[in-house]
Amino acid sequence: MISPFLVLAIGTCLTNSFVPEKERDPSYWRQQAQETLKNALKLQKLSTNVAKNVIMFLGDGMGVSTVTAARILKGQLHHNTGEETRLEMDKFPFVALSKTYNTNAQVPDSAGTATAYLCGVKANEGTVGVSAATERTRCNTTQGNEVTSILRWAKDAGKSVGIVTTTRVNHATPSAAYAHSADRDWYSDNEMPPEALSQGCKDIAYQLMHNIKDIDVIMGGGRKYMYPKNRTDVEYELDEKARGTRLDGLDLISIWKSFKPRHKHSHYVWNRTELLALDPTRVDYLLGLFEPGDMQYELNRNNLTDPSLSEMVEVALRILTKNLKGFFLLVEGGRIDHGHHEGKAKQALHEAVEMDQAIGKAGAMTSQKDTLTVVTADHSHVFTFGGYTPRGNSIFGLAPMVSDTDKKPFTAILYGNGPGYKVVDGERENVSMVDYAHNNYQAQSAVPLRHETHGGEDVAVFAKGPMAHLLHGVHEQNYIPHVMAYASCIGANLDHCAWAGSGSAPSPGALLLPLAVLSLRTLF
Ligand SMILES: *[C@@H]1O[C@H](CO)[C@@H](O)[C@H](O)[C@H]1NC(C)=O
Ligand SMILES: *[C@@H]1O[C@H](CO)[C@@H](O)[C@H](O)[C@H]1NC(C)=O
Ligand SMILES: *[C@@H]1O[C@H](CO)[C@@H](O)[C@H](O)[C@H]1NC(C)=O
Ligand SMILES: *[C@@H]1O[C@H](CO)[C@@H](O)[C@H](O)[C@H]1NC(C)=O
Ligand SMILES: *[C@@H]1O[C@H](CO)[C@@H](O)[C@H](O)[C@H]1NC(C)=O
Ligand SMILES: [Zn+2]
Repeated sequence: MISPFLVLAIGTCLTNSFVPEKERDPSYWRQQAQETLKNALKLQKLSTNVAKNVIMFLGDGMGVSTVTAARILKGQLHHNTGEETRLEMDKFPFVALSKTYNTNAQVPDSAGTATAYLCGVKANEGTVGVSAATERTRCNTTQGNEVTSILRWAKDAGKSVGIVTTTRVNHATPSAAYAHSADRDWYSDNEMPPEALSQGCKDIAYQLMHNIKDIDVIMGGGRKYMYPKNRTDVEYELDEKARGTRLDGLDLISIWKSFKPRHKHSHYVWNRTELLALDPTRVDYLLGLFEPGDMQYELNRNNLTDPSLSEMVEVALRILTKNLKGFFLLVEGGRIDHGHHEGKAKQALHEAVEMDQAIGKAGAMTSQKDTLTVVTADHSHVFTFGGYTPRGNSIFGLAPMVSDTDKKPFTAILYGNGPGYKVVDGERENVSMVDYAHNNYQAQSAVPLRHETHGGEDVAVFAKGPMAHLLHGVHEQNYIPHVMAYASCIGANLDHCAWAGSGSAPSPGALLLPLAVLSLRTLF
């Protein structure tokens, strides 16, 4: 890895003069733009194929400023200046904006937003898989207000389905794919209030194993929520916090196994070595739980016990692509959000770079002809970078000048609020005295808060593959699964799918003609 100090040194020595040699020549920019134009003109021929497969990458908390900073980081990790780098998601031909607010919140949370982009319905903050008629924590407002997700629609259509996340598998984002809960925090019955238990509500881990019994691939963290209270963890035997949590005494991993047909191969693994030793051609169902809670940050990952996000995605795709009817896969880079909440921008950005690598891996393993891939975020963060930094400045570096007000240096990366607020002897901390390139450095914020907050502005939606062009403007977030379902001929809107319900393959003539007409109308 390139030393951030080295990049910083290049940046500061050459302030106002460092420009990559080739960029001084106008023909470089003209040629580059003409190449882009040529590719853009090809987009006039829209892909109206049926999306046999749909992959959704969800960067939790991956606002646009995070995408830009992750791009620079990725380039700098490859010893480049960084700004000119292209992320895998940057290569997607269609980009839209998604309005992320929840029905009861201007600045949303991950639960209400997950309900929007997975179930197609906006909901209240803190609730998953239920409509806005459900109030957070009120168990008895759940019944009758459940909404189903695209994962369920895909399963009902005979496709394989998978969930891969770096958080707990029962965390807000994945849970909207399979659960209906008035509260995202009901990870197991241990976290539920007695009233909700007495009113008959089920915790999210329980719902993961019982609601859709044949989810083909489940990978992430969250082991402790599957085991009886006090059961010792297989990896952290001495850690009391890693122990089982369930008050009902259930062993959900045994229950998961018991629901799988005998003649199928179902595998539960808890470490990377075991995962990578599997032969995916001989795995029908996979449950991988690599940590008691959330998985470790990519920067802190133990490479014997924990797979990276891209490794999990690769195994998932090898299993899911075996289904001739196709698949739906939800991939969450779930800890971008956690890095930001802690004010640890470096952790957050490395999580984003790792998710981008997983996007590249998925792209190499699938075809744009039959696979719709959507990359988006649930919400943004009050994360920003600026300060007139010169070209190639380390993304974790300092602005080239000191403040003209308090005469102290400042990092380019700053937060609007969060734990990095620091006053020393009545003044803003002098960051020259601290290691601001450290993995766990907490960037300064304007307002002290133990946890930095989400941001309220729109997030980007990147799309490629069949019907990707339907993501083309400023959309409400709950529009996204409607597009994914339409493209893959699942869910409610099947009018354009000549073969829907018949179970037979689409006749190209029957399908493509009306779709082509429709797409033209959409575009012009
Ligand atoms: C739902 O539960 C609350 C207590 O949380 C109670 O006040 C309310 O009357 C209940 N509503 C119904 C319709 O049972
Ligand atoms: C769990 O362990 C703690 C301390 O080791 C003990 O006090 C508690 O009674 C145990 N709970 C159960 C349900 O076994
Ligand atoms: C992985 O899990 C298997 C099965 O429990 C175990 O035998 C093996 O020692 C574990 N490997 C590591 C590196 O923890
Ligand atoms: C695993 O981590 C160790 C220690 O950080 C490192 O030396 C080793 O190269 C890593 N192995 C792989 C396969 O990444
Ligand atoms: C900040 O710290 C640096 C490094 O110790 C020092 O050179 C500089 O004078 C300090 N600035 C202020 C305003 O205290
Ligand atoms: Zn968050």
